[in-house]
Amino acid sequence: MQTADNNSIVLEAKSLTRRFGGLVAVNNVSFAVKKHEIFGLIGPNGAGKTTLFNLITALIPPSSGELIYQNQNISQLRPHKIAGLGIARTFQNIRLFGELSALENVIVGRHLHTNSSMIKGVLGLPPAPSEESKSRQQALELLEMVGLSDRAQEKAKNFAYGDQRRLEIARALALEPQILLLDEPAAGMNPSEKQQLSEFIRNLRERFNLTIVLIEHHVPLVMGLCDRIAVLDFGQLIALGEPAIVRDDPAVIEAYLGNA
Ligand SMILES: Nc1ncnc2c1ncn2[C@@H]1O[C@H](COP(=O)(O)OP(=O)(O)OP(=O)(O)O)[C@@H](O)[C@H]1O
Ligand SMILES: [Mg+2]
Repeated sequence: MQTADNNSIVLEAKSLTRRFGGLVAVNNVSFAVKKHEIFGLIGPNGAGKTTLFNLITALIPPSSGELIYQNQNISQLRPHKIAGLGIARTFQNIRLFGELSALENVIVGRHLHTNSSMIKGVLGLPPAPSEESKSRQQALELLEMVGLSDRAQEKAKNFAYGDQRRLEIARALALEPQILLLDEPAAGMNPSEKQQLSEFIRNLRERFNLTIVLIEHHVPLVMGLCDRIAVLDFGQLIALGEPAIVRDDPAVIEAYLGNA
């Protein structure tokens, strides 16, 4: 088996713990994500998967433990700093601006954390012209990539669920991230959209040279797509490894696959 040298590790959790009152949502979790990997995060409802993303993106601070990104301790940074370092995400509960167009949502995604002038631009206040056209061009290209370019001017709220998920991915990509965290991207997609999603995510990785962490309940998708999979159960990491190994792990079968 190949062992990772330290240079290939892009994101590392060290004894990461998050408590909500008496509940330990993430309990002493340690793992390392390698560069260019598609890293799956699975586990039953309430296992702590989204909480882990919330910790990585600094929406909430850890109770204890550390997060290391490219050899830098990011545990105490603010969300905009995390975004600026190249960590982007989508949300399990889609967070688009429903009244803004698809194009505007992607443009805002690019500048939400880096430059408020573009948000002003979208909201009708004076923008910086050269930057605006660049952002617009980039946003159009991203919409093209996710198959929504012909609907660039439509309001986000009018999109079907699966399309909104793709729009969220385009918005996250607008940050030009190095690592992309996807929280249940297949939720709400129909079977054929789910099938296409695997190939789409693989293409994203190649095209943008990304590292991807993927939370997903759809087991065939996870097994077919991920290089390695981490399994959480009641906040604890109960397995970590290649899909075939994880799939046959008795603890995983009992905690997760057995219940699926
Ligand atoms: N802000 C919060 N305040 C209190 N409890 C929380 C908070 N966020 C999450 N929890 C609790 O932490 C636990 C883990 O929740 P989390 O959303 O991380 O699970 P999950 O693995 O993403 O589940 P699902 O598959 O249903 O999305 C749950 O018991 C949840 O109720
Ligand atoms: Mg979740």
